[in-house]
Amino acid sequence: MHTIPSENTSGTPENLGPEPSRRFCVAPMMDWTTPHYRYLARLLSQHTLLYTEMVTTGALIHGDTERFLRHDPAEYPLALQLGGSDAGELAHCARLAEQFGFSEVNLNVGCPSDRVQNNMIGACLMGHPDKVAEAVRAMIEATRLPVTVKHRIGINGRESWEDLCEFVEKVAAAGCRTFIVHARIAILEGLSPKENRDVPPLKYAWVYRLKQKYPHLEIIINGGIKTFEECNEHLKHTDGVMLGREAYHNPWLLAGVDSEFFSAKPPAKTRHGALRAMYPFIQSELERGVFLGHMSRHFLGLFHGMPGGRQFRRYISENAHKPGAGLEVIQVALEKVPES
Ligand SMILES: Cc1cc2nc3c(=O)[nH]c(=O)nc-3n(C[C@H](O)[C@H](O)[C@H](O)COP(=O)(O)O)c2cc1C
Repeated sequence: MHTIPSENTSGTPENLGPEPSRRFCVAPMMDWTTPHYRYLARLLSQHTLLYTEMVTTGALIHGDTERFLRHDPAEYPLALQLGGSDAGELAHCARLAEQFGFSEVNLNVGCPSDRVQNNMIGACLMGHPDKVAEAVRAMIEATRLPVTVKHRIGINGRESWEDLCEFVEKVAAAGCRTFIVHARIAILEGLSPKENRDVPPLKYAWVYRLKQKYPHLEIIINGGIKTFEECNEHLKHTDGVMLGREAYHNPWLLAGVDSEFFSAKPPAKTRHGALRAMYPFIQSELERGVFLGHMSRHFLGLFHGMPGGRQFRRYISENAHKPGAGLEVIQVALEKVPES
């Protein structure tokens, strides 16, 4: 696990290699894209760009910074997603992202929850393009990492094509090159965050239009994407795809990504093999005092749709939270699923 800022004698952080590919990304998801999920995801695909859960600037500056930024170098390429709006604080946190070895720093302009809105974080910032531009400029000045923005196509009251173009143009003028666009608006009053991921209609054509209008920008499309067939269709019009819920509920999908999108050999041959490859990591986390259930909830989807998958999930759900539960729970659960 990486907890100490990386340093070397040349003064260049080791993460400043070539910019990561964003052709296929897994979305930032609170409580879901934890280090334990990401470790599994990385065993399934070497090339997918992974994102952390959102971390607010307040938590990083006033809380336990090392805990919030903790990750394993095995997870790279890994982008840190920040929530915040104060340019100085975001710049400080972008610097931390570089010091801790992340591959990219991303600003959340898509989250619609009330809690973050009250702190001027997330989708409400789509109504303040100048503020986002100022923050992005400060972040770019503070770090050599790529600074990217994840946003919606609008918010209620500012949902016209012109509003979207104004947002993208102002943020691009501040130096942002990469826009990850969730292809629906967020409705800031009256819908829960969950409803805001399903109810406003998807408008993929708007994201395609952004790429047509601003071909020099990198445009990544997000929202409701489930299959490689859909990804390939989107890749005809955009530079990359970002999958959230499907990549979480059905992580084995990631095992096909390297061959499908990167012409590379897939790192994992079987689901069983991938989970067994996690044993040393799980064991070292258990020794650090992490509860098995805290990790294993992220593996429940691994046998999604497979014979024995339900028994695998049930065994883990019933046993992983018991005091002292260890690797044997995973071993027994794996025996519930036929190994081909
Ligand atoms: C449980 C959960 C937590 C999420 N947390 C974040 C977050 O921290 N930051 C963010 O930008 N988006 C967050 N999202 C939104 C996703 O990144 C993504 O934009 C959304 O789920 C649409 O993509 P999908 O249809 O492929 O899931 C979250 C989504 C879910 C399901």
